[in-house]
Amino acid sequence: MPVVELFAIVGGARLVGEVAVSGAKNSVLKLMAAALLAPGRTVLTGTPQILDVAIMGEVLRRLGCGVSTEDGTVTIDCPPELSSEADYELVRRMRASICVLGPLLARTGEAKVALPGGDNIGSRGLDMHISGLTRLGAEVTSEHGYIIARCPQLAGATVWLDFPSVGTTEQILMAGVLAKGTTVIDNAAREPEIVDICAMLSAMGAQISGAGTSTIEIEGVEALHPVTHRPLPDRIVAGTWAMGAVMTRGDVTVRGANWRHLEITLDKLVTAGATVEPLLADAGFRVSMDNRPRAVDVVTLPYPGFPTDLLPMAIALASIADGASMITENVFDSRFMFVNELARLGADVRTDGHHAVVRGRPRLSGAPVRATDIRAGAGLVLAALCADGRSEVSEVSHLDRGYPDFVAQLQSLGADVERLDVPQIDPSY
Ligand code: UD1
Repeated sequence: MPVVELFAIVGGARLVGEVAVSGAKNSVLKLMAAALLAPGRTVLTGTPQILDVAIMGEVLRRLGCGVSTEDGTVTIDCPPELSSEADYELVRRMRASICVLGPLLARTGEAKVALPGGDNIGSRGLDMHISGLTRLGAEVTSEHGYIIARCPQLAGATVWLDFPSVGTTEQILMAGVLAKGTTVIDNAAREPEIVDICAMLSAMGAQISGAGTSTIEIEGVEALHPVTHRPLPDRIVAGTWAMGAVMTRGDVTVRGANWRHLEITLDKLVTAGATVEPLLADAGFRVSMDNRPRAVDVVTLPYPGFPTDLLPMAIALASIADGASMITENVFDSRFMFVNELARLGADVRTDGHHAVVRGRPRLSGAPVRATDIRAGAGLVLAALCADGRSEVSEVSHLDRGYPDFVAQLQSLGADVERLDVPQIDPSY
């Protein structure tokens, strides 16, 4: 009989204690792709043990690399000759696999990558990726479900982005480092993950200036060499713990996190009534909360704005806050899809286009709900922690993609949660 994996959560516990965050998923995946740029052994330390890292490892293996992922260390042996095709079976499981396009093109002169599926959070076009690579001289076509890019030698150019897209900035960076001449990315993304990939590429021998600003300049070099690199800590996982502490009126120390990457988020939590203290020696931060959080308005924007990846947790928080909150999403079209699930827990959320009005309730009410993507899943788990009685969050494979040891970490903070395999009624009966 088929089984569904779910988290069974009994609400009411305060989250209290310490958790440690590992390297950022959204950085590690791109750093793994960057390893394609240099033959030899690249080592990434402090990486999270999550499904997406395993999938990216498989993408690289099929391109010809040797990949091992053990105890948080990812080792990639990149051969002098690479295959240039990433197939649909893997790319559809993780949209971020598209980031191999730029480095493959730069290394082999040709790349064939399946059109991605991935997160169910709206129309995430690839138009800027494609027009950016075209500016560098690539001929890009789409055939039989694949994007095919060809260019024997990329040439530096100025690329203006319509929107500071994280994925496009990374794509152009990884193509530009081996292009002939100067590439300028204007209206570049400024996320900490961009600074991280620039740091690794620079250590590999790339010539990059302006990382973390809206204008990045890359002077192409002939070849890069592999390095050992420790990715930055995961600010979205750290932010999830901070939100969880506030929602459950708990007291959580998040070790290894960088509070500077979460300034707006933590400031919102302080406005909601929380106490936030950085730890000495930049070792993380502590978030504690005694009372019911006050309602706060949130507007997502590219970094340094409030991160769109924490929007579901912000809505979950607003749903139990004292007062009404206006939540505005400016990055992805369909982030609000998950509010129908949150409503099953009793949340009062009304959406209109990019806006949601959330009227907080003192308690939510436990119910079965379904995770629709990684972050929506985390928002639902936090809401379930504040619900009376038992909730079941299903489709937790989404959470496996981004939250290492989530259930064990929640349990260590005192949550009443377990992972269950529940037999499912066979639909063919
Ligand atoms: C990355 C993160 C994701 C995060 C997002 C914004 C990874 C694996 N994912 O996604 O968790 O929420 O940054 O911080 O790192 N767009 C286009 N055309 C393009 C590219 C993007 O229209 O060619 C649009 C998207 O549809 C979206 C917006 O630009 O509306 C932002 O996308 P982008 O910044 O590129 O996000 P990702 O890199 O996909």
